[in-house]
Amino acid sequence: MENVFLKSPPVVQNPTANRFSVSWCVSGLATGWVEWGYDESLGNKAVSSHHGLIATDENFLSVPVVGIDENCRVYYRTATVAVKYHTAYEIEQGEVIYSNIYQIILPNRSADTFSMTVVNDTHEATAILKLFVKRVQEIKPDFHMWNGDACHSFNSHDQLGQVVLNPSDESDFSRSGGWAAERPLLYTLGNHERRGSHARSLCKAITPWTYEMSSLIKKVSQYYFVVRHGPVALVCLDSGEDKPDNREVFGNMADYEAYRKEQRDWLAVILKDPSVTSAKYIIAFVHIPLRPIDGANDGCRNEGYAFYSGECNKLWTKLLLEAGCQLIVSGHQHQVEYHPADDNYPINQLVGGGDKMEDAALIYLEATTKSLVLRVEDINQKILIQSEIRSKNSC
Ligand SMILES: [Fe+2]
Repeated sequence: MENVFLKSPPVVQNPTANRFSVSWCVSGLATGWVEWGYDESLGNKAVSSHHGLIATDENFLSVPVVGIDENCRVYYRTATVAVKYHTAYEIEQGEVIYSNIYQIILPNRSADTFSMTVVNDTHEATAILKLFVKRVQEIKPDFHMWNGDACHSFNSHDQLGQVVLNPSDESDFSRSGGWAAERPLLYTLGNHERRGSHARSLCKAITPWTYEMSSLIKKVSQYYFVVRHGPVALVCLDSGEDKPDNREVFGNMADYEAYRKEQRDWLAVILKDPSVTSAKYIIAFVHIPLRPIDGANDGCRNEGYAFYSGECNKLWTKLLLEAGCQLIVSGHQHQVEYHPADDNYPINQLVGGGDKMEDAALIYLEATTKSLVLRVEDINQKILIQSEIRSKNSC
């Protein structure tokens, strides 16, 4: 039988202190698993199964790895096997294709330091993404975040997979693991991620976060989540589309207004969780900026589109401020701007760059228990913005 081949490096996602998931793209019907352990001998195997069936897919494989000891370096590799059904009882399988062995660290509240890179609004600009992937590999941050608008729209499984799991469009994964094989990718959705005939398939490649409501009931919580590492809590939100739900262009298939309220209710609870309250720094990530701009479209009008999100601002800012959030990192405006907290808006608001070489920007956040430094650099690594954020206790 014809074997399948890998169409992306592994992309580590959904990290917590004792679990993560890995997604990757394949060229045809396949199944797969993740081998993992605390050194290169690995020794454990994780599979993705639902009601007893181990998952197969023609485009995306995604495996949750659970039960990891906290505060350990984890080694893993993916394994992929082509599957062909001749009859129900005659299933042919191809050779096992292994990825390289990679190592990652998972969120750890007691870590001394924290570092992350952030990009946004890359809109399938492969030339920019190749440079950013290389830069992230050089910086070696603990986490890498894609803060929305990775695409224009999702129009096929092939295109979706290439954009979100193989953004620099590589073909040889023996030499490059992309930007998220050796660190978790945190992904907050922009307005463009919900556009196109295949937008509803994004969850096969960029996996939503699952929260345990009880030992028996799990709730898939869409794309909003909290990550705590060292002195920093990351509160990651989903601002949805940039126009009201009732606009004709959405074909009566938009439900963001309820989704934003759901996140307000979640924020009211999660911001009181010890993982957030004990952090020295709280950084919120949301694709569309919350800081109002006089006269600009707030996304609630009958024409145009949001330059900032009036509705998210109304629902979320007060809760974030009361929790002591010091910084909101956004994109959407395709221009780098930093607005220190002032009378107009009480939280520092950083806005990242866009999909043209002259607008592209990479944000770098680095913290110890003593300081949090934010830097924004352009595509040539020229520093555009540098600022220090004071810890909650010293504000
Ligand atoms: Fe956007």
